Amino acid sequence: MKSKILLLFSLLNWFIPATWAQPTYIIKADSITAHVEPTMYGIFFEDINMAADGGVYAELVKNRSFEFTPNLMGWHERGKDGGSGSVQVVDRSAERPDNPHVITLTVASGAGYYGLSNEGFRGMGIKKGETYHFSVIARQHSGSRTGLTVELVDSQGVVIGRGAVHPTDLNWKTYTVSFVANSTVDKAQMNLWAHKAGAIDLDMVSLFPEHTWMNRPGGLRADLVQRLADLKPGFLRFPGGCIVEGRTLANRYQWKKTIGDVDRRETIINRWNLEFKHRLTPDYYQTFGLGFMEYFMTAEDIGAEPLPILNCGMACQFNSGQLAPLDSLDPYLQDAMDLIEFANGPTDTKWGKLRADLGHPASFHLKMIGVGNEQWGPQYIERWKIFEKTIKQQYPDIQLVSSVGPDPDGQKFDYLNQTMRALHADILDEHYYRSPQWFLDNVRRYDNYDRNGPHIFAGEYAAQSKGVGSPENKNNWQCALSEAAFMTGLERNADVVHMASYAPLFAHVEGWQWTPDLIWFDNLRSYGTPNYYVQQLYSLNKGTDVVPITLHDQTVTGQGGCFASAVLDKAAHTLIVKLINTAAQAQDASFVISGVKGLSSKGSVTTLQNDDLNAVNSLDQPGVVSPKVQSFAVTGDTLRLSIKPYSVNVIRVGEMLY
Ligand code: AHR
Repeated sequence: MKSKILLLFSLLNWFIPATWAQPTYIIKADSITAHVEPTMYGIFFEDINMAADGGVYAELVKNRSFEFTPNLMGWHERGKDGGSGSVQVVDRSAERPDNPHVITLTVASGAGYYGLSNEGFRGMGIKKGETYHFSVIARQHSGSRTGLTVELVDSQGVVIGRGAVHPTDLNWKTYTVSFVANSTVDKAQMNLWAHKAGAIDLDMVSLFPEHTWMNRPGGLRADLVQRLADLKPGFLRFPGGCIVEGRTLANRYQWKKTIGDVDRRETIINRWNLEFKHRLTPDYYQTFGLGFMEYFMTAEDIGAEPLPILNCGMACQFNSGQLAPLDSLDPYLQDAMDLIEFANGPTDTKWGKLRADLGHPASFHLKMIGVGNEQWGPQYIERWKIFEKTIKQQYPDIQLVSSVGPDPDGQKFDYLNQTMRALHADILDEHYYRSPQWFLDNVRRYDNYDRNGPHIFAGEYAAQSKGVGSPENKNNWQCALSEAAFMTGLERNADVVHMASYAPLFAHVEGWQWTPDLIWFDNLRSYGTPNYYVQQLYSLNKGTDVVPITLHDQTVTGQGGCFASAVLDKAAHTLIVKLINTAAQAQDASFVISGVKGLSSKGSVTTLQNDDLNAVNSLDQPGVVSPKVQSFAVTGDTLRLSIKPYSVNVIRVGEMLY
């Protein structure tokens, strides 16, 4: 039976009609149907899969302030040259609830060293020739002269970098030393040796490379932010995702606790630490070294509109679903109002002044804010209405991004979709984690959406090769190809769809909980998945205005396995066609272009292609599916191209201006 079905499929493939094998696509370049928003293709950032701590946040020391449970997680006591001593955790929560634990390191009299080694986040990625900045907040006990030596060691214990600090003060003070590493090691460790008998209190033991994104001290991993910058994103959504909601309200994301001195940003457990039984990550916490100031600045650096998503008094409904009572929403509302002032307010306002004090007097020009993440049910609507009223009263121009639940259809979606439309919501945040086939089948999803209704933010989506939450999901070519096909539908409906972002963004190859993800990395390297290159091709070629592309007068939505959209880039006087071939057959296609004075004599086509739908990129083979650019000659008003099987093609041709 199975072999008969296979035979039928292969016969169907062979008998694709000749009109499909040699199709002629018609493009009317003077019939603009929609404007493409500059925000169209953006980034969804969430601290999942060790995206922030252990990832883009370049801190190399895990559990630097002894706030994990247990307090010495990631640290190991050690003696050297006969040294002995002890390490004790001290609770000072009454005095410092934001950073309640420190350690006392005691060295017994006599020779030798005593101390701790830190294992890093799955080791520490250290580069030869790079300068490393070590810092610690310390205070000596009375009569103690204990000094500290810091060493980076490779897996054999060979020292690859060393420095020393000599704390003298009886009060808390920061001590720093910088040193250069003499070897590249992907899983180094850091030893901290105390010598000379005595006792010393320690907190915020930290190590950063000198070269971070924009070379900001205590900053972000430059290679990973560069991957984001290379997407030329229209917006940066942060900080998630379910992390906004928390498993409980106590565990929700609170932006005010993520700005200012890093030692005052309260560390909390990361909600993804214990979400998936099959991917438990006990050492996953949020230090908030990457906090709201850093998010805003990164968005600005990479030319993206900031899009913060805030908790609306609801914990994750997949977990506790805790609700803040309607008459106790004030702290949540205040967080939203204060955030808008923090981002945009003049420097003589309370929160605008704080932004200036933190080094950014200019406004961040915040235009949108998300009310809740993936909420659903009447309880969301009740809270949403209060948020909407409060925010719009003071800030009528701020656009609200509103949830329509975790699914693209079904009861939860239908209820919210109808209700939000009746309430005249600004932007609806749709999420779809679905099979590759769903993406192909839904290319017409937005064709019949109300043109005068709320705008759409495809806020989280990714094709799942196995199923949502499956650890078997792969970032394979089939998934990326189906997303590319679906995106022709987003683009064709750019009057309705104003923003779209793949999710999640980052994953550490040893520290992930959720797959698939756009960018994978280890301690030193990273690679873009085929899905990344799809996103990049769309973003770099989003154009400014949509024009129709048809085959036999029909929109191209899968005929012969092909999907297409076309845009003009008015500033560049260029026509851009996206043609996605999901079939196993090549096509000799013609594109007849009308409505231009003429075409330049050369065009280019950037192609992503692989004959194997299971193809994936990896750290060792990052280019298995990656863009290849070719140029072609243009004669008259017709382009003739051979379209490869299983390919994404972005065709660019200049318009003559005479
Ligand atoms: O992207 C991973 C998770 O998927 C997000 O945190 C959540 O919004 C969605 O359920």
